[in-house]
Amino acid sequence: MRIIRTKNYEDMSRKAAAIIAAQVIHKPDCVLGLATGGTPVGTYKNLVAWYNAGDLDFAEVKTVNLDEYRNLPREHQESYWSFMHRNLFDHVNIPADKINLPNGNNQDAEAECAAYDAVIASLGGVDLQLLGIGHDGHIGFNEPSDAFDLGTHCVDLTDETIEANKRFFNSKDEVPRQAYTMGTGTIMNARKVLMIVSGKDKAEIVKKAFFGPVTPQVPASILQMHPNFVLVADEDALSLV
Ligand code: PGA
Repeated sequence: MRIIRTKNYEDMSRKAAAIIAAQVIHKPDCVLGLATGGTPVGTYKNLVAWYNAGDLDFAEVKTVNLDEYRNLPREHQESYWSFMHRNLFDHVNIPADKINLPNGNNQDAEAECAAYDAVIASLGGVDLQLLGIGHDGHIGFNEPSDAFDLGTHCVDLTDETIEANKRFFNSKDEVPRQAYTMGTGTIMNARKVLMIVSGKDKAEIVKKAFFGPVTPQVPASILQMHPNFVLVADEDALSLV
């Protein structure tokens, strides 16, 4: 595990974007695993700016997103499909047919999750997986549980996650209760994992996840065992370690 300490959110975003840019430059046809949430917005902004400046080309890049809400129309502005288009895909030249997210509207959860794992396998796995972390230690929507889930699966969101995500919706009632998410096994299979964390409110979970025991009760803690894991976190997020 490598920790890169940054001054603040902007510094974290630039450094994370630089790591992703390096991946795209080294391997133009790489598979990027992408994440949603508040944290990666600044990272994507930098990638868009460097694309616009002619420094980055995504023409051969393929993407797989970590997760998607279940039963939220794709066009809903808070679907992760919409989030990704608004923050990245609409602004760079990743071909539309190279963009992959779980289909949250496929009612057959088992079929959808198996199909998503097959897509990831057909791409040859993920070269670089970007991650945020939830206050409960979740990665993707892998919530605290008694065992690490391996492949893509359907999850019931915890109350803490619903509470955290209600800021994006009109009310808590509108937050979907379920999601399809890559499993911790899929994430651990990525050749490189890049986690970004910012803010004092994440300091406690950063300490627990990366300076405490590896346990499925803190899903992110498994990353301590990843051979190529980089944590880019600002001073506030690292203030307890
Ligand atoms: P956030 O979410 O970036 O909005 O804090 C992180 C996560 O839940 O993975």
